[in-house]
Amino acid sequence: MAARITYATLTADNEELHTAYEDGVRRARARLGEEVAVAEDPEPGEPVEVRSPADPAVVVCTVRPASPRAVQAAVAAAKQAYPGWAATPWQERIALLRRCADVISDRADELAALMTIEVGKNRLEALGDVEEAAVFFRYYSDLMEAADGYSRPMDSLSDTERTRSVLRPHGVWGVISPFNFPMALAAGPTAAALVAGNTVVVKPSLQGTATAWRLFEVLRDELPAGVVRLVPGGDEQGRALVGSPDVAGLTFTGSYEVGMQVLGAASTPWPRPVIAEMGGKNPAVVTASADLDAAAQGVARSAFGFGGQKCSACSRVYVDRAVHDDFVARLVARAGDVVVGDPLERDTFLGPVVDAAAVDRFREAVAAARERGRVVAGGDVLTGERLPGHYVAPTVVTDLDPSDPLLSTELFLPFVAAVPVDGLEQAVAHANDTVFGLTAGLFSGEGEEIQRFLDTIEAGVVYVNRPAGATTGAWPGIQPFGGWKGSGSSGKAGGGVYYLLQFMREQSQTVVQ
Ligand code: SER
Repeated sequence: MAARITYATLTADNEELHTAYEDGVRRARARLGEEVAVAEDPEPGEPVEVRSPADPAVVVCTVRPASPRAVQAAVAAAKQAYPGWAATPWQERIALLRRCADVISDRADELAALMTIEVGKNRLEALGDVEEAAVFFRYYSDLMEAADGYSRPMDSLSDTERTRSVLRPHGVWGVISPFNFPMALAAGPTAAALVAGNTVVVKPSLQGTATAWRLFEVLRDELPAGVVRLVPGGDEQGRALVGSPDVAGLTFTGSYEVGMQVLGAASTPWPRPVIAEMGGKNPAVVTASADLDAAAQGVARSAFGFGGQKCSACSRVYVDRAVHDDFVARLVARAGDVVVGDPLERDTFLGPVVDAAAVDRFREAVAAARERGRVVAGGDVLTGERLPGHYVAPTVVTDLDPSDPLLSTELFLPFVAAVPVDGLEQAVAHANDTVFGLTAGLFSGEGEEIQRFLDTIEAGVVYVNRPAGATTGAWPGIQPFGGWKGSGSSGKAGGGVYYLLQFMREQSQTVVQ
């Protein structure tokens, strides 16, 4: 086994990492095709094959979607396990959860390889996704410890009364997680809920089922029975979880439309916390004083990394008219340099998009861009013997009207549009003119511009002059990750210091002595 991965060791020239990952690929392949089902589900749904987007001939797993009764039974089991887990001293809970983190880290090679096969994420990003999952368990455990279990004395008006403020869990927490970070975004809310003392039922994205199942295996094996359950399936199973009156809190990560439905669903007899992390249409702004090479690199990485399928992906760039053509030329050159191919291969940067529907969406977006603007790089669906899956070319578009729907609709594709602007103010006005407010980036050489941008941009995660990723790459404990406006409901970002508080409710305990 390789030395444990950290954020710092996730580099392209880390040979040990590559060797370990390749070994992980062999182990992941050995389990391909397994069936994923709730044990003892009396009437599971018809089998659904999850196929690799890199090569649809490869069956990653066969899912038996959980029946409504199995979803209910999972919630009931979590409800039964709740009092014991909530009563477990937080020190013991976090000791168990830190152990889960270590097991995840120890299996990172195989888990990442499986993720690459299942959703097409390249090897470094897949390894990062797995390690991020482990870090979430460690980070929220550290927060609990630093806060001494969130129990603190309050003031007193008399000598005989003593009051404490104690944060306590809610009960069963539902976690609906997406395909694009099939480990990290299942693990993050699950870890927070568990650290806080809730029990959890996870409904992962159907497209990331095998990967999420491996996370579940770790938690199932390391934690007391019933503390975490997983129900495989799609929308129907998600709706069943949201509709359960015994689910006391919910975290949903996915589209704006579904997130708004989840927020509006009232199935419990009293209001419950719902944390919805929704989409993005993330802008970057490039001013006349910017380092254009850094800007082109940062935008290319954010727009094309994992095929633009991160909620944080950059999909529109507002560029000062004075440098627009120069910037676009550099971005087009970067798009041309992107290595597209089998995501299992060491040098691949861009693997496939997740499914045939994404390819259809790409075709439609490119046709619209050709009609209403200009496609200056990419635009093709890629096929051929070496590319048997759902491959599309990294695409750059110009000449769209700033009000074009392609600049406000989330596409989840390696597709970015550049728009010329007259100064920072206009750039920020366009950048803010969508329902979303997740991430945003700025490239500028002037301190005053940077401050103005920070003061006026409507986004929960903001980066300035970052070639490693203009809008992407948040890491727990470093960049709290959460959306404003239509990108997120809670205003308390994952991987940040306030996130964990949302999984607990305050109890004021006054005792007369
Ligand atoms: N953490 C990821 C990023 O910032 C998104 O979920 O890219």
